[in-house]
Formats: sequence, C-alpha cells, structure tokens
Amino acid sequence: MRWHAYPDSETAAAACAQFIVARLEEALSGKEQATLALSGGSTPKPMFKTLAGLRFPWERVHVFWVDERAVPPDSPQSNYRLAAETFLTPAGVPQGNIHRILAELAPEEAARRYEQTVRDFFGLKPGELPHFDVIHRGMGADAHTASLFPGEPLIGDRQGIAAAVYAQRLGQWRITLLPGVLESARNTVMLVTGADKAEVLRAVFQEPYAPERYPAQLGSRGGAMTWFLDEGVARLIAGG
Ligand code: 6PG
Repeated sequence: MRWHAYPDSETAAAACAQFIVARLEEALSGKEQATLALSGGSTPKPMFKTLAGLRFPWERVHVFWVDERAVPPDSPQSNYRLAAETFLTPAGVPQGNIHRILAELAPEEAARRYEQTVRDFFGLKPGELPHFDVIHRGMGADAHTASLFPGEPLIGDRQGIAAAVYAQRLGQWRITLLPGVLESARNTVMLVTGADKAEVLRAVFQEPYAPERYPAQLGSRGGAMTWFLDEGVARLIAGG
C-alpha cells in the first residue's frame, strides 16, 4: 500500500483525479478501452470536478459503480447522479460507456442485472472475475468501503460479483461489488479525508488484516492500492 497526504481535501481530491487519469492512460496504451469503477459519498465531488476538467479520450473509458444506494437515478442520494452531474456529463463521457446500477429496481434484481452487465462487458466465463483497470473507493468512519459494512457476511465472499445488502446502520438497501472484484482490480485508488476518520485509518493501516472488521483493508494484500489523504486523516499514520 502506498499513501500520499495533502494539506487539504481539495488538493487530495485533485491529486487523486490526476492519478486515476494516469492509470487509465497506462491501460489505454495496451488496449482500446479502459474500465473505471466509481464510488459515491461526499468526498469524491471535488475529484469528479477535476476529472471533468481534464482533457482525456473519455470515449475510450467505460464507467461502472462500486456501489449504489437503492434509490432512483434522479435522487439526491444517487451515486450515479453525483458522478453524472459533476463528471460524466461535463466531461462528455458517451452514454453508451456509462454502466450504472439500476437501483430503482428491487435491490436483488438490480444486483442481478448489474452482475450480468459486468459479465457481458468483460466477457466472463462462469467463475471468472473482472479486472477493472481502476477502482475508486472511499472509506466511512466505521471502516466500511463500497457498501461492505463491518460484520457483513458477504465480506467472506470471493466468488461473487455484485449483491444487494441491507445497511442496518443506515436503514437502507445498497447494491455493491463484492470483495473478489475489489481485490481483482489492477489499481485501487482510495480517497479519504477528514480528521474524524484518523483513528479508523490508523487501525486499517496498522492492525492485522481483518476485512470483516475493517472492510477498507480489502485490496491491501497484493495488487496496487494507493491512498489519497488529507493531513487531518493522515495525522496518526504520518511518521508511523
Ligand atoms: C456510498 C459509498 C461509500 C463511501 C463511504 C465514504 O455510496 O456511500 O460508495 O462506500 O465511499 O461511505 O463516504 P463519504 O465520502 O461520504 O465519507
């Protein structure tokens, strides 16, 4: 795991955006199309805005989601809506490259359809997992990532692609990619800011690998995982 800390959340987000684009560019040097999976929450907004302002052959990038809240696409809670408004539409990413989770459907059905979308796009045979070029994730103050919350039994699932989960703490259904997919990413990019997450970040970095307790550790063993932090969240690991 590598990490970089920046003076504030805006600078961290901008650096994260630049890093994502560099990884996509690398991917495109060897093939026609690259794949990017995005998360939601409030932290990525400035990252999406930076991405929107960068010149890039977006017509060669296919966009997916790491997770989605079980709401229609026009809901203020929709991860799709946030990315569409702040990044995909202003950047001119073609509609045909946008593979959103149909979270307006019943959660199990939305997960089933999303899994099929991923299988079809990557041309997966039974038992195969997709290798996204870049997966962007965040981390909650309870160490959750994607919509995998501490104690979630699906954290032990390394075969599945997507599932519906009920987030007890939020009283909300979510659709999420599963750990095997997160761990198969060619590049995992974590954007995490805010001093309120400093202690949990310390635990994620310094405690033994236990993703059922610290889901944000998923992807930290093998594979390239890079964290973009602000100084507030990094204060307990800086120098450690
Ligand atoms: C979501 C996410 C989720 C997010 C973290 C951090 O839909 O909420 O994809 O996993 O990355 O909860 O969210 P914040 O950036 O809002 O702290």
